[in-house]
Amino acid sequence: MNLPKHIAIIMDGNGRWAKKRGLPRTAGHKAGAETLKKVLTYAQKKGIEVVTLFAFSSENWKRPKEEVQTLMDLFRAYLKEDVKELVKKGIRVSFIGAREKLAPDLREQMNRLESQTADFQGFHVVLAISYGARDDIINAARQLAVKAASGQMTPDDIDETTFAAHLSTTRMPAPDLVIRTSGEERISNFLLWEMAYAELYFTPVLWPDFNETAFDEALESYQKRQRRYGGLENKQKV
Ligand code: FPP
Repeated sequence: MNLPKHIAIIMDGNGRWAKKRGLPRTAGHKAGAETLKKVLTYAQKKGIEVVTLFAFSSENWKRPKEEVQTLMDLFRAYLKEDVKELVKKGIRVSFIGAREKLAPDLREQMNRLESQTADFQGFHVVLAISYGARDDIINAARQLAVKAASGQMTPDDIDETTFAAHLSTTRMPAPDLVIRTSGEERISNFLLWEMAYAELYFTPVLWPDFNETAFDEALESYQKRQRRYGGLENKQKV
């Protein structure tokens, strides 16, 4: 079975899931957090190596204060309780995104988890919190500019490899498959550089309803894709 090594997921539709049930949006996020646990367990069982999840975007700060607060409380609880379980299972956990915008206690928990699990081999879970791909690309450009201005490197040293080495995703493989739930078909500033050759999969399923069957459907779709990275199929005549 041709499995993607790295799956990136845009967990969308929590709000609509709640609205359909006459519940507050925050109930949708809570249900989404439950789904996340189940999906990670299943992805590990399937032999996926890396899963990156878009939990909170750089643009999500614009949401009403109460919703941002609920999401931050959910992350806090998740890092305290559920991620502990991940650590027990030997899963490596890391984070990407503008950490300086998060509360100090959250940052502390994140740093601790990262260092605790840094050497774990096998399954790797990456949570994108306060993440925006354009921010990440600008940060990389700024670091390179500083190095060039100080003479540590020349502009000619800047290529795909040196650029990628300055992104927050530097030590992970590029995503092979990107899944977005809820029927929206856009990328929304997620892993723009990294998903250059990823296969995209959109499903109408709302994130809290995303289950093993929906996950299997995404994997089946991936298996049917022919990845050519801009080249030609092996046996194709010119
Ligand atoms: C998009 O749904 C989802 C989010 C902005 C947050 C994703 C967060 C979770 C799944 C909660 C748990 C995460 C962790 C790491 C504990 P939406 O609110 O945009 O839904 P809508 O488009 O239907 O309004």
